[in-house]
Amino acid sequence: MNRMHKTGIVVLCFSLLSLAGWNTCLADDDSHHGNDHRHPGKEGKHHLAPVTNPVYQETCGACHFAYQPELLPAASWQAILSNSADHFGESLDFDDAARNGIAGYLQANSADKSGAKRAVKIMRSLGSVVPQRITAIPYIREKHHDIPAQVFARPAIGSPANCPACHKTAGQGIYDDDTAEIPR
Ligand code: HEC
Ligand code: HEC
Repeated sequence: MNRMHKTGIVVLCFSLLSLAGWNTCLADDDSHHGNDHRHPGKEGKHHLAPVTNPVYQETCGACHFAYQPELLPAASWQAILSNSADHFGESLDFDDAARNGIAGYLQANSADKSGAKRAVKIMRSLGSVVPQRITAIPYIREKHHDIPAQVFARPAIGSPANCPACHKTAGQGIYDDDTAEIPR
């Protein structure tokens, strides 16, 4: 900042002082702290919340990893539950109580309701698209585009949908690149 500019700000500060008090003038140096106040609570949280619903864990974790609700928007979870008679070639069988419990849990905790950084990135990359696969989300695809198909086909992995094969901390909602390790 040049001297002229600084002098201008000092003059401006003194003229604002009587109107708004010191904070207006001090805000110039500290504007990045000021911004933080606009992101309270859950917003900015790095990791996803681990699965806490036992019915969801048991029912939807029977064949594969119980994906955190924050990995897909509510509309995707709804579509998945509506298509339970043909769930990627499988037929899902659960009573109405279980279905309602699972639907409520997924809706309340979905990516579009989350302030977690990854969930925000997922929603941003989807726009208005409603995928039925996490592995179809552009953000998730980009993060894995260096991994060849033969690697996903390894017996210890089997599918790109098998997150915990490479993300040992997936169950805790932690998908950092430095904790990802591809099994041989
Ligand atoms: C009977 C076995 C079975 C059960 C139970 C089951 N699924 Fe699946 N699910 C599958 C199969 C098979 C796939 C495809 C996996 C693949 O492509 O590797 C799949 C894939 C998925 C995917 C997409 C994964 C990706 O590619 O990103 C989601 C999301 C999903 N299931 C959610 C659920 C939910 C929610 C429930 C509970 C309501 C559930 N599943 C219960 C068998 C099952
Ligand atoms: C074959 C192993 C493998 C599988 C399966 C896999 N990942 Fe990954 N994933 C990786 C690796 C390796 C990286 C780091 C890529 C890099 O460094 O650019 C990564 C990166 C990521 C990132 C970005 C991490 C960051 O810090 O930017 C996310 C999010 C992620 N994976 C989520 C998932 C989810 C969700 C699933 C399951 C639907 C999944 N991954 C399945 C290996 C895997």
